[in-house]
Amino acid sequence: MAPDRNYLTTAHPRNEWHCRNLQMEYVDLYLVHWPVSMKPGRFKAPFTAEDFVPFDMRAVWEAMEECHRLGLAKAIGVANFSCKKLETLLSFATIPPTVNQVEVNPVWQQRKLREFCRGKGIQLCAYSPLGAKGTHWGSDAVMDAGVLQEIAASRGKSVAQVCLRWVYEQGDCLIVKSFDEARMRENLEVDGWELTEEERLRIAEIPQRKINLGKRYVSEHGPYKSLEELWDGEI
Ligand SMILES: NC(=O)c1ccc[n+]([C@@H]2O[C@H](COP(=O)([O-])OP(=O)(O)OC[C@H]3O[C@@H](n4cnc5c(N)ncnc54)[C@H](OP(=O)(O)O)[C@@H]3O)[C@@H](O)[C@H]2O)c1
Repeated sequence: MAPDRNYLTTAHPRNEWHCRNLQMEYVDLYLVHWPVSMKPGRFKAPFTAEDFVPFDMRAVWEAMEECHRLGLAKAIGVANFSCKKLETLLSFATIPPTVNQVEVNPVWQQRKLREFCRGKGIQLCAYSPLGAKGTHWGSDAVMDAGVLQEIAASRGKSVAQVCLRWVYEQGDCLIVKSFDEARMRENLEVDGWELTEEERLRIAEIPQRKINLGKRYVSEHGPYKSLEELWDGEI
């Protein structure tokens, strides 16, 4: 039986049930996927007003902590949290989040959030490190960036390798997705070489724009009425 994605992203001590579905006694890391709560049993965009329920961060996090205490999750964390939301969470958390999983790539470098997380001992984890080209939430902006293509050509690397190396050098952990074995192997080859200072500076100058805006979670009937509210003005 496929796990109910909504429950998986909305912590509840009954998540022991989900571990059983996954045929695991525990998971290493369990994340709040978005700072959003939806009614159980539905996870299909576009969402309607009835799909949303208020996001009770404290209740969600207490349930996450309970999962950890029960041994169902070795570590707990969040995703798509701004500095402001992390501040709120840290004001009542008895177990701070281990990880904040957010979009990070050369086109959305997350300098402010990385610095904030580092100061609080939260590991930044980069999703869509290649800009998620070919997905409905992604863009060609990263893989087609001229600067990255030039660096890749001059170093005998692929654009993907330059991106992944850059993320790795920021100190972030990263999750890249490929269904292709050759590309999976290529993506592992980020060790044993490094970007030069000049290349880092060129990447730092790439104009910034967030690719995955999470527009589906913005609704005049939902908890976030604008992108500004969802991201607390940090994009
Ligand atoms: N927490 C969140 O809210 C959130 C949001 C978005 C994504 N994520 C997670 O982040 C992970 C990765 O992010 P993502 O899938 O959005 O984007 P991504 O890893 O940046 O990009 C994936 C795309 O890049 C292609 N690709 C992979 N390696 C490549 C290479 N070496 N050369 C050329 N193309 C390559 C893949 O195609 P092929 O498969 O054909 O290689 C796929 O189309 C996923 O596990 C995803 O679930 C989390």
